[in-house]
Amino acid sequence: MLRKFSLFFHPVEIDLSFSPFALRLENETYQIMKASDENIADLLKLEQEVYFGRTPWGRFSFKSELKKHANSLYLVVYQGSTLVGFVGMRMQAQEGHITNIAVKPSFQRRGIGEFLLRTMIEMARKNHAVQMTLEVRSDNYNAQSLYRKLGFKDNFIRKNYYITEQADAVNMLKKLTDKEQEEVN
Ligand SMILES: CC(C)(COP(=O)(O)OP(=O)(O)OC[C@H]1O[C@@H](n2cnc3c(N)ncnc32)[C@H](O)[C@@H]1OP(=O)(O)O)[C@@H](O)C(=O)NCCC(=O)NCCS
Repeated sequence: MLRKFSLFFHPVEIDLSFSPFALRLENETYQIMKASDENIADLLKLEQEVYFGRTPWGRFSFKSELKKHANSLYLVVYQGSTLVGFVGMRMQAQEGHITNIAVKPSFQRRGIGEFLLRTMIEMARKNHAVQMTLEVRSDNYNAQSLYRKLGFKDNFIRKNYYITEQADAVNMLKKLTDKEQEEVN
């Protein structure tokens, strides 16, 4: 039976378990682990730093997202007591949707964002996702470069997605086929 039909008739449990570990990147060591409520103050601080004082998500959004254990995974990366990055993904049907990702400015361009995204892609694959999606501001070229590097392609535009800033979003899509995996890895 084709995998998509087989999964329809025998839905699999989503398994987003994650064991913390020490991550070595460019001669630096970081700790990567699942996010919890205890990280919210640090997450808000990091958001403020990357978005020039704004917190697009805010405490309420982080708190409610971190409760969705059944189908969402949020990871944080620390160096000592400093939060240097985070990423979030929601699994819906056979799709992994990246909800948020950010790296502290002084730690950008060291491979942390790429590592976090690859980790989520791997997790989505393990959970039988056939594609990854995300939304990114149409003028956020740095983030778009990261997504393109990992094989995401422009899918469609969401007009005025970011209402307060009156900015459009690009919905980007990456098919999780074996061929694609060979090309990107
Ligand atoms: C987007 C973001 C998460 C990238 O994190 P990062 O840790 O700096 O990214 P990496 O070092 O892993 O970069 C991986 C690749 O992404 C691309 N990239 C990342 N930052 C880039 C930049 N400033 N300019 C151009 N390309 C960039 C490059 O292709 C890079 O590969 P390379 O180093 O081999 O050239 C980070 O810039 C960030 O936090 N931005 C602010 C928050 C944000 O915009 N989040 C996305 C919301 S949709």
